[in-house]
Amino acid sequence: MSLIFIFFLLSHFTLFTSPSPINSNNSNVIILTPNKTLSSQNQTFELCFLNLQNQNQQQPSYYLVIRFTSLPSPNIIWVANRNKPISSLSGSSLQLTQTGQLVLLTQNAVVLWQTKTNFNTNNKSSTTILQPKLLENGNFILVNNHNGVVLWQSFDEPTDTWLPGMNLTRVHNLLSWKTLTNPSNGFYSLRLKPPNYGQFELVFNETVSYWSTGNWTGGSFSDVPEMMIPYLYRFDFKDAFLPTASFGFSERTMDNGVRPPTMFRVEPFGQIRQYTWSNQAGSWNMFWSRPESICSVRGVCGKFGVCTGEMSRVCECVKGFVAVDGGGWGSGDYSEGCWRGERVCDENDGFEDLGAVRFGFGNVSTFTAKSKSLCESGCLGSCDCVGLSFDEKNGFCKNYFGSLFDFQNLTALESGRGDGNVLYVRVPGGRGEGKIKRLSGNVLSGVIIGCVLFLVLGVVVVTLVVLIKRKRLKKENDNEFDPILNLKLFSYKELQLATRGFSEKVGHGGFGTVFKGELSDSTVVAVKRLERPGGGEKEFRAEISTIGNIHHVNLMRLRGFCSENAHRLLVYEYMPNGALSAYLRKDGPCLSWDVRFRVAIGTAKGIAYLHEECRSCIIHCDIKPENILLDGDFTANVSDFGLAKLIGRDFSRVLATMRGTWGYVAPEWISGVEITTKADVYSYGMTLLELISGRRNVEAPPSSGDRKSGCETEEKWFFPPWAAQLIIEDNMAAVVDKKLGNVYNIEEVKRVAMVAVWCIQDDEAMRPTMGTVVKMLEGLVEVPLPPPPKLLQALVAGESFHGVKADSSNAVSTVDSSSGYDNMEVSAADSESCIGDVFSES
Ligand SMILES: *[C@@H]1O[C@H](CO)[C@@H](O)[C@H](O)[C@H]1NC(C)=O
Ligand SMILES: *[C@@H]1O[C@H](CO)[C@@H](O)[C@H](O)[C@H]1NC(C)=O
Ligand SMILES: *[C@@H]1O[C@H](CO)[C@@H](O)[C@H](O)[C@H]1NC(C)=O
Ligand SMILES: *[C@@H]1O[C@H](CO)[C@@H](O)[C@H](O)[C@H]1NC(C)=O
Ligand SMILES: *[C@@H]1O[C@H](CO)[C@@H](O)[C@H](O)[C@H]1NC(C)=O
Ligand SMILES: *[C@@H]1O[C@H](CO)[C@@H](O)[C@H](O)[C@H]1NC(C)=O
Ligand SMILES: *[C@@H]1O[C@H](CO)[C@@H](O)[C@H](O)[C@H]1NC(C)=O
Ligand SMILES: *[C@@H]1O[C@H](CO)[C@@H](O)[C@H](O)[C@H]1NC(C)=O
Ligand SMILES: *[C@@H]1O[C@H](CO)[C@@H](O)[C@H](O)[C@H]1NC(C)=O
Repeated sequence: MSLIFIFFLLSHFTLFTSPSPINSNNSNVIILTPNKTLSSQNQTFELCFLNLQNQNQQQPSYYLVIRFTSLPSPNIIWVANRNKPISSLSGSSLQLTQTGQLVLLTQNAVVLWQTKTNFNTNNKSSTTILQPKLLENGNFILVNNHNGVVLWQSFDEPTDTWLPGMNLTRVHNLLSWKTLTNPSNGFYSLRLKPPNYGQFELVFNETVSYWSTGNWTGGSFSDVPEMMIPYLYRFDFKDAFLPTASFGFSERTMDNGVRPPTMFRVEPFGQIRQYTWSNQAGSWNMFWSRPESICSVRGVCGKFGVCTGEMSRVCECVKGFVAVDGGGWGSGDYSEGCWRGERVCDENDGFEDLGAVRFGFGNVSTFTAKSKSLCESGCLGSCDCVGLSFDEKNGFCKNYFGSLFDFQNLTALESGRGDGNVLYVRVPGGRGEGKIKRLSGNVLSGVIIGCVLFLVLGVVVVTLVVLIKRKRLKKENDNEFDPILNLKLFSYKELQLATRGFSEKVGHGGFGTVFKGELSDSTVVAVKRLERPGGGEKEFRAEISTIGNIHHVNLMRLRGFCSENAHRLLVYEYMPNGALSAYLRKDGPCLSWDVRFRVAIGTAKGIAYLHEECRSCIIHCDIKPENILLDGDFTANVSDFGLAKLIGRDFSRVLATMRGTWGYVAPEWISGVEITTKADVYSYGMTLLELISGRRNVEAPPSSGDRKSGCETEEKWFFPPWAAQLIIEDNMAAVVDKKLGNVYNIEEVKRVAMVAVWCIQDDEAMRPTMGTVVKMLEGLVEVPLPPPPKLLQALVAGESFHGVKADSSNAVSTVDSSSGYDNMEVSAADSESCIGDVFSES
């Protein structure tokens, strides 16, 4: 027989037992049995058997997984037998065959998973030592200890997680889990886009691409310019545009030597997300996800499901339909979609107007009809017909068959461009008219018992609710104004009335939706309805009292609140001039320099007050133009402070609200270093750059619903590195908003610009405090020339800078072309005059 001598050096394989072949012919060596784990050298990762059974399953489902040993979910980075769970562990094991294959066997020697390695057993002259090893980076390898050759590695068989050091290639893709708890093959994959292999794309069901990175430009992908910020990763694309392309990333070591655990993951709901572990928060922080809007994910709501994009409930069923998988919908897995229940089709069916939507369908039959009702009867004629559209102008009638999915609301998009026809979905007719198919006895009795129980429970609950409400009502009438909190206490009903049933939405932030309302004394207010409020009544009131006691002319004033059952609402003064972000849109109104300068100082004063003058220092965590509101006089009012604490005691919720804003957040957020008030200073600096230039730092991606094929998305542009460079070179004219013409105070612009660059220094110790910022802006303290921010500088210096592209409207695609005043006067001439010019006349 072969002389192969398989030997293990498993020094950290603590519970290892002597090899025990299962039969005399089989000289396999057992590497891992269910009760044991194989750990990496420093215990960062472990290989083990894990039960991922969910409540609906009868049998346990064991998988051989690699996971972060001591971090909470999502901590599983690799699964061997993702489509073949083990139902009974006894006798199962991971073994190594004589031919150098790793195999996962059950008691009955059923192979659930195996590697394709083929080790040359005929080389009798060698005494080969094969060693399975779990490395510190999460890679499980089988190495020939004699010559160091790696026969197999788990990094070459990726599942849904992408770790530093792991390369994606033409054949190594990521594939999502089916659901959050089921690792079997899901619908979404990330792959190098064939046939050029010069970019990545997210693909649904292996066919439909719904997001792509854009071509590689040397330093980043054209639609992911934020990659160039060398915060945390170094990306390496070998052989781009060749079939041998291989893309990987490594983690940079922070200045303090820290390298927090980090990963990218393709989620079961189709987004790719980046996570970094934060010790301070004790949680995984997610900083980046694409596509930004979950509603852009193909098929995310399944058949007859409509994506709402609301965080609390992403999908809804078309009217008259119910979720196929009620449990799944409850836990955020919508892929099974909706159906009509057991109702069969019926001539009494009606048609529900979904508005102008884009959607996918199985089959279509097109014909001309004289009227919509003829088009409808065409559809009613077949049980397979599920919907129709009718063009009044030319009488084109389309009947859709099979199923309808992927609704994209075109009405909600800026301009209803496109085919724009209204979709009508066939829905069950009059109430209870749809015939219910005969149910089997068992199901029927189950249903009846269920209904009875439900009724009884319902009565009990209703009675309780009424009783509690009565009690509450009494209590509330007693203290409509809370003297301790110095705030008005509103009832839910009152606010419902004031906002006319929460009908006029004026904003949507990370913490909830904001509605305009009018109180009975006809004061206009903004009512913020908190989403997913955490904590109990007591905590809520404690935090409210903190926020309620903060009074500063540049901080949004809380007038009152409502805390009733699960409802948590905050009532603020209404800001008639809206958020600063509205003035930074290309087509938005323009603010005069004087107003901008006042906004810059006002915002700084507001934040400084939070940082330095409150009793307990408050880190805002989310400074951005959306959170700077302008009152009737265009005075800046910083909003959303203190809510981080309200929503949850940890940072993770806050961070969740900042997703996709790498452009704003300080490097320490991402590197997992402790967060201080200087993180706000950084975000403030980024906001200043936007204020000066009248544009966003990262050009907004195309609207989320837009997936018109063939229409390539515009390249995105990351502004700050370029701006910082020009500011240091004293070329203010190239940075300042062209819409201002030359109507601005150059000294003030210079001061604001230099302060901005000081604020976005990588090293937080270099950034000024907010108090100093105020003094600098007011001219009380001289502003020295700032050094270039190192991280951003890397972009400008490197070749990658050429990949950064300006949009045409800014006429600054290169540094040279932007120096003259002439251009600006031309562009100023045809732009509208700036809001607030009145102030500059004083
Ligand atoms: C061992 O293998 C030989 C030939 O491959 C076979 O005849 C024999 O039955 C096997 N013995 C056992 C115990 O499986
Ligand atoms: C394991 O930890 C030690 C001490 O912290 C460190 O010196 C060593 O480099 C680590 N090993 C690996 C492979 O990371
Ligand atoms: C695991 O360990 C427990 C107790 O130590 C033992 O009862 C059980 O049989 C073991 N299971 C397997 C599959 O070895
Ligand atoms: C056999 O092993 C020897 C020693 O490791 C090595 O030099 C030789 O290339 C091997 N031959 C084959 C065919 O793998
Ligand atoms: C990934 O690619 C890099 C560069 O091509 C290479 O050095 C590295 O060994 C590869 N990593 C793995 C795990 O194959
Ligand atoms: C996925 O694609 C297969 C064939 O390519 C098709 O049969 C199946 O219906 C598709 N699934 C979904 C959910 O679209
Ligand atoms: C990306 O590169 C490929 C190959 O060079 C080219 O065919 C394709 O048009 C490029 N796509 C875009 C959007 O520039
Ligand atoms: C579409 O309709 C044609 C003709 O009616 C039929 O042959 C085909 O199978 C249908 N395809 C689907 C996906 O329903
Ligand atoms: C689309 O958006 C409009 C306006 O926001 C809304 O009235 C309509 O109900 C939406 N339609 C669907 C199908 O979500």
